[in-house]
Amino acid sequence: MAFWPWSKELEVGIEEIDQQHRWLVEQTNQLHDVMQVGADEETIGEVLDALVDYTMNHFILEEDLFNRLGYPETEAHKAEHDAFTAKVMSLLERHESGEPAGAQALDLLKDWLSHHILKVDKAYVEHFKAHGIN
Ligand SMILES: [Fe+2]
Ligand SMILES: [Fe+2]
Repeated sequence: MAFWPWSKELEVGIEEIDQQHRWLVEQTNQLHDVMQVGADEETIGEVLDALVDYTMNHFILEEDLFNRLGYPETEAHKAEHDAFTAKVMSLLERHESGEPAGAQALDLLKDWLSHHILKVDKAYVEHFKAHGIN
């Protein structure tokens, strides 16, 4: 069984966004499994690299919708995206300088799933749906 199984609770009901969130849950599970058997630095580096791409693609998608739909919580939401991106970049730097970053990356992801996706992302669903996005 996966460490963090995908569940209905995580769904925002917008297909492209859910697909990207699913990918992030998979990365979290992969990182968790890697840490269970001892930190494999190569895989940790791959996960961090992939997370950098994710932050670009996924946050742009959400923020673009916020702009188009006049979402009132845009500033606060974007600030969380920016903080996450900065943390991922600093973990990647840690990793590249030879310091362990896997445990912190896993903590960051767990916190992100439970706080950002389950609360902050879910908060835009009603606004999006009211504006015809689903
Ligand atoms: Fe978000
Ligand atoms: Fe999101």
